[in-house]
Amino acid sequence: MANNLLSGKKGVIFGALDEQSIAWKVAERCVEEGAQIVLTNAPVALRFGKINELAEKLNTEVIPADATSEEDLENLFTKSMEIMGGKLDFALHSIGMSINVRKNRGYTDIKYEWMQKTFDISAISFHKMMQTLLKLDAVNDWGSILALTYIAGQRTFPDYNEMAESKALLESFARSFGYHFGTQKKVRVNTISQSPTWTTAGSGVKGFKEFFDYADKMSPLGNASADACADYCVAMFSDFTKMVTMQNLYHDGGFSNMGLNPAVLGM
Ligand SMILES: NC(=O)c1ccc[n+]([C@@H]2O[C@H](COP(=O)([O-])OP(=O)(O)OC[C@H]3O[C@@H](n4cnc5c(N)ncnc54)[C@H](O)[C@@H]3O)[C@@H](O)[C@H]2O)c1
Repeated sequence: MANNLLSGKKGVIFGALDEQSIAWKVAERCVEEGAQIVLTNAPVALRFGKINELAEKLNTEVIPADATSEEDLENLFTKSMEIMGGKLDFALHSIGMSINVRKNRGYTDIKYEWMQKTFDISAISFHKMMQTLLKLDAVNDWGSILALTYIAGQRTFPDYNEMAESKALLESFARSFGYHFGTQKKVRVNTISQSPTWTTAGSGVKGFKEFFDYADKMSPLGNASADACADYCVAMFSDFTKMVTMQNLYHDGGFSNMGLNPAVLGM
């Protein structure tokens, strides 16, 4: 169901790898709601993923950018404004990758060089993205910037490894940059804390199936799907949420406020 909630708005969406990616669903929903978008991902993801298929379907362009490179980000936003003929109204950071998880290094056997790379890709890239947008004056007043996060930023989920600290850092950047973007440009910045979701990044976490099923049972509404997350992102990019900023917003079927659900115990 489309309501033209984003009619006339322009945005950049990071992180659509394949049709399971949350960013893929967000891109589809934004276009359905009347937005003009540019897609981006790391050059390596362009080779292995399916982003070009999505771009064709949505009749939009893909600009490669490694989100850890300030040069790539500057090029991305400058070209996006040229292509779309004006400043942006929204941007989605949907990027996460842990080198230690990928290489099977546990939390008490971390390789710090990899940890720093993980923080750079999964969190500092969000600061870089916002700093570049601000310096280029690339966002219209009342624009909306979002990043996706997970509740391991607040609570302990042992197998989430160093991604827990990445998410805590990411959420903190949203609060701190939210102040600066709000006072200088009336732009809002928030994070959406999403339920476990079956994607390439999600299913890379050890024991993901058990983890997914547990959260599903624990949440009164069940796990929020990627499609539902896309709807929420559209709402956050729309003019109906203009005064929401510097928040970590749970989109998790109620999981974050549960203590015990008898369903988990089979009662
Ligand atoms: N899947 C889940 O269970 C879940 C739950 C909560 C939050 N999230 C968050 O949602 C976001 C999107 O993940 P997803 O689950 O859709 O998985 P995904 O694997 O589809 O997306 C992750 C994306 O990050 C991109 N990326 C990696 N390194 C990059 C770099 N250097 N520059 C630019 N892009 C880079 C990848 O190419 C990929 O497109 C992540 O921040 C993730 O942590 C996921």
